Amino acid sequence: MEKTLPYAAVSIVLLYALYNAAFKVQTPEKNAAAPTYRAHVTEHKTEHAREELARLQSTEYLRQYIVSVIDHGSYQFDFPGGEMEGGFASPADAEKIACYVMTLSGKACGKPYKEDAAMFYSSNCAGCHGDDGKGLNGTYPDLTRKKLLGIESREAFLKQMLKKRP
Ligand code: HEC
Repeated sequence: MEKTLPYAAVSIVLLYALYNAAFKVQTPEKNAAAPTYRAHVTEHKTEHAREELARLQSTEYLRQYIVSVIDHGSYQFDFPGGEMEGGFASPADAEKIACYVMTLSGKACGKPYKEDAAMFYSSNCAGCHGDDGKGLNGTYPDLTRKKLLGIESREAFLKQMLKKRP
C-alpha cells in the first residue's frame, strides 16, 4: 500500500494533465491538433498516448469534445465561415446541445435529453451549421461526419507520435 500510493498519485496528476490538454481552449493553428494538445501529449509517455488514442474512439469523448467546443470555441481549421467563438450557449445547455448534435448523425448520447435540445440547437447553432448539422455546403464544419475533424486531427497526431516512439 505504502509503495503503490506515490505511483497512484503520479498517475492521477498525469491523467489530469492529459484531460486538461484534451479539453481546454485551443490556440490557433490550422488543420492540425492544437499546439497545447500536442505539447502535453508529447510530454507524457507512450502508454498515455495509447490510452488517449483508445479513448478518442468513444462516444463519451465525442460528447466531451463537442461540449468543450461550445464552451471554449474552435480555432483549428480554415472554413470560409471563419472561426467559432465559445459561449454560444450556457455550460448547462452545452451538455444538452452536444447530445442533440450526436443524434443528428444517429449516434446515441450517454445522457440523452429529450425536450428542449432541438430548440436550443436551432436557435444557437443552426444559423451556421444548418438545421441538419451539415454545415451549409462547406461554409462551416459538417457536424454529422463519421469522425469530427478535431478528433480526426488529434488521432492523426497521436498515431504519428506512436510511430516515432513505438
Ligand atoms: C457563427 C457561426 C457558428 C455558430 C453560431 C456555431 N458554430 Fe460551431 N463552428 C463554426 C466554425 C466556423 C467552426 C470551425 C472553426 C475552426 O476551428 O476553424 C465551428 C466548429 C464547430 C465544431 C468542431 C467541428 C469539428 O469537426 O471538429 C463543433 C462540434 C461545433 N462547431 C458545434 C457547434 C454547436 C453545437 C453550436 C451551437 C451551440 C455551434 N457550433 C455554433 C461556426 C459556428
